[in-house]
Amino acid sequence: MISGLLTIEVVRALYVISAVLFILTLGGLSNQETSRKGNAYGITAMTIAIVATVLGPQVTGNYIALLLLILIGGSIGLLLSKKVQMTEMPELVAILHSLVGLAAVLVGIVNFLNPTQEYLGVELTIHLIEIYIGIFIGMVTFAGSIIAFGKLSGKVSGNPLVLPAKHYLNLLMLISIIYFGTIFVGSSSIDEGLIALGFMLTISLFFGIHLVASIGGADMPVVVSMLNSYSGWAASATGFMLSNDLLIVVGALVGSSGAILSYIMCRAMNRSFISVIAGGFGTETSSTPVEGQDQGEVQAINIEEFKSMITSSKKIAIIPGYGMAVAQAQFVVNEIISILKNKNIEVIFVIHPVAGRMPGHMNVLLAEAQIPYDIVYEMDEVNDDFEKIDLSIVIGANDIVNPSALEDPNSPIAGMPVIECWRGTSTVVMKRGMSTGYAGVENPLFFKENTKMLFGDAKESLSQVLTLNN
Ligand code: TAP
Repeated sequence: MISGLLTIEVVRALYVISAVLFILTLGGLSNQETSRKGNAYGITAMTIAIVATVLGPQVTGNYIALLLLILIGGSIGLLLSKKVQMTEMPELVAILHSLVGLAAVLVGIVNFLNPTQEYLGVELTIHLIEIYIGIFIGMVTFAGSIIAFGKLSGKVSGNPLVLPAKHYLNLLMLISIIYFGTIFVGSSSIDEGLIALGFMLTISLFFGIHLVASIGGADMPVVVSMLNSYSGWAASATGFMLSNDLLIVVGALVGSSGAILSYIMCRAMNRSFISVIAGGFGTETSSTPVEGQDQGEVQAINIEEFKSMITSSKKIAIIPGYGMAVAQAQFVVNEIISILKNKNIEVIFVIHPVAGRMPGHMNVLLAEAQIPYDIVYEMDEVNDDFEKIDLSIVIGANDIVNPSALEDPNSPIAGMPVIECWRGTSTVVMKRGMSTGYAGVENPLFFKENTKMLFGDAKESLSQVLTLNN
């Protein structure tokens, strides 16, 4: 029996080391150049946390079973990480958030049925409130993440669900959850507590589903970061239930960094943070995406014309979007920029904060292809300088370069800042056809006089551009 191999003092010391490493992880991950180091800190921190917990005095169960579960869970994780395509990462993140939520629910229920410590009086009340809040946040995270997974993978419609009096419905659900909370905390028997929990779980399930389902496609980035934040608070609440300091700290780190990210996303999309938390923002404008309006003719070009536009440019801005991830065109792009460098053509990348399907999606792709960081710019850094850009190459991006966000107050993406490439001399948009982006909105950029369309898979088209070298 290796239970209690480490004393509680040693476990606490290891928890402090682990917590510091988790903080360094966040610091590292906030910058592309240090992100690998950040990841290494995170892996070390998590290993220390697991070893300290398993060998500490609190774990007294069957080690064989524990090892078996760690092996099964670890193998599933490894298999998934090998199998999941880069483009499926957002869905994977969403479904992993749902597991954090589910874990909080299960730990909460077990903790209620079989408390690790005896509590009396005020302590018991506080402990029951911790359990109730933990299970509530866990269930909302679980349900919301499942819907987010469905929306991101295209299994659930991206259109916002608009139920009549939806905000009142949310309010009613919240009031009922508080009501059952008072019954739960005041319950005199396990059965009474379980009934209250059952009602709360059912209402929270609908609450979580409704909260995410009522958010429209283009506003999903904020939901992803919000669920990230919720999963952190769910973990933190679990930490309170189990009196585990490290879980409280790490949960709070994830919760608050997710909340900060949501705030940054809201600012990037010009949305109100409060209305996101209330659920269902982005539906105040048009609730149904605008598709198929006649906007005129597009000007399609072929590869040869594209090549001559490139060679006659002095400064080129590359604007990557979700389609670059689908086509896996980032590596070819890297080869092209070295060719252009040799031809003394300046190239910069312009990144929109919500490009792709997960926060930092484009940065991950560019880092994967080892594109130098010093030519990668944020949208705000370039938007006012497009007059100086001869050619903007839009690779598989759509919503993030849609002028209707600025020009049409009824558009579902109205008010969202976009990359204003049409202010440059000319733009070439690379995509396979005329289909809309994630928000399902028609894009007037494609019909502008200084925009040309190069139809086809982005990687295939760009591979043909490589012959520029000859
Ligand atoms: P989108 O607006 O989704 O447009 C992507 C475009 O890529 C599509 O119009 C598609 O057109 C094209 N495409 C797909 N496969 C391609 C391929 N193999 N080769 C060439 N083109 C290809 O992407 P975006 O501009 O990056 O905007 C992101 C959108 O996703 C925003 O609405 C954002 O709110 C939303 N969203 C973002 C996140 C985060 S956190 N970033 C999370 C959820 C949702 P064709 O089919 O015609 O080729």
